Amino acid sequence: MAAINLGATGGAPGATASARRRGQFHSLEVAEVRPLTAESVEVTFAVPDELQDAFGYVAGQHLALRTTIDGHEMRRSYSICRPPSPGAISVAIKRDLGGRFSSWANAELRPGDRIDVMSPQGTFTSALERVDGVHVVGVAAGSGITPMMALAHEVLSRSATSTFSLLFSNRSTLDVMFIEELADLKDRYPARLALHHVLSREQRAAPLMSGRIDQDRLERILAELIRPESVDEWFLCGPFELVQLCRDVLAEQGVDPAHVRYELFTTGRPVDAGGDRGRPVQVAAGEDVWTLDFTLDGQSSQVESPVAARESILNAALRVRADVPFACAGGVCGTCRAKVVSGSVSMTENYALEPDELERGYVLTCQSHPKTEKVVVDYDV
Ligand SMILES: Cc1cc2nc3c(=O)[nH]c(=O)nc-3n(C[C@H](O)[C@H](O)[C@H](O)COP(=O)(O)OP(=O)(O)OC[C@H]3O[C@@H](n4cnc5c(N)ncnc54)[C@H](O)[C@@H]3O)c2cc1C
Ligand code: FES
Repeated sequence: MAAINLGATGGAPGATASARRRGQFHSLEVAEVRPLTAESVEVTFAVPDELQDAFGYVAGQHLALRTTIDGHEMRRSYSICRPPSPGAISVAIKRDLGGRFSSWANAELRPGDRIDVMSPQGTFTSALERVDGVHVVGVAAGSGITPMMALAHEVLSRSATSTFSLLFSNRSTLDVMFIEELADLKDRYPARLALHHVLSREQRAAPLMSGRIDQDRLERILAELIRPESVDEWFLCGPFELVQLCRDVLAEQGVDPAHVRYELFTTGRPVDAGGDRGRPVQVAAGEDVWTLDFTLDGQSSQVESPVAARESILNAALRVRADVPFACAGGVCGTCRAKVVSGSVSMTENYALEPDELERGYVLTCQSHPKTEKVVVDYDV
């Protein structure tokens, strides 16, 4: 099987981008807000010279944005939608019906506004070594197209022999984010980019491309349009059900899960619980406690937590260090990742860490609860 390396592509020459740089917020100015559809905008931030390194990134990564809405601090992650270019970094935000942050961003964000933006995070990136001759497939629905825009551009621009197929599902043409950019990309790479739009509420010429992507339709698409044996790496991004369906069908067809990467924007539950982050916990004298030692930015800190409180490691750590990194607090984005150095923990949910990271002792601290009296974790490794 061919190999890809999308590499560490920095925002400026010499910038180093690590798929695992610890997240830190910086205030960035909004340079442009561009409507993509009636329900989504592309937001471009200006990255000053001194922050070029901090905002170097690899295609497929995301940014956490932080703001205060109606007196509540909110953090949400948004995938980077453009290939790296010095001085700018862009995300696309689709308005979620009733969603607080996305509605605010679509209605209120203007050029000149400043907002806290975390340095890029995430491992929805390729681990393969070469891009020559490889065939990469992206399966996206709705705003799941956002990381695909950066990935497709990277795969196609890095080699004259790579190919990218995009299976993109939306309700109707009016809902298709980046419709013009996709057409431009197709014009640029007519023979190497294959675009397959599926519309669930609009009739297309080919019946196969009209309707929801269910198991039957997906199997027919794999039989007629994208043959799994021709594919080197898969990227899936969309609602939980679609991602799960694709993983199941690909596994049934013998695709090695090591070549199937996926990113979830939500867990599929109606409202993400957001973990217990921010829950006030106090230690009473004589109470049974567990102890957390953690290292962050080279500094060690310690905090005690009442056993009865059953709080997460993140919640305990935030009591003594406000800069402990997190975004979703729901086990989805991976921003709160740390390595367990001693002791052991149990994790409630994990939609972000890969099996090899778990084997190496990494955990999502927003989802981790101690199983031993003392736990030591390191956020820096
Ligand atoms: C790694 C990652 C990358 C992402 N990339 C993107 C991206 O590129 N583009 C993008 O648009 N999004 C992306 N997301 C999703 C994004 O982070 C937000 O989750 C999304 O914008 C919704 O946030 P919100 O504040 O608008 O909605 P929230 O206010 O958090 O609400 C979420 C949903 O719950 C519903 N809801 C809220 N409160 C209630 C209630 N009381 N009762 C019932 N329902 C309720 C809302 O109607 C909404 O549908 C990404 C997420 C992750 C983790
Ligand atoms: S903060 Fe998102 S997974 Fe923990």
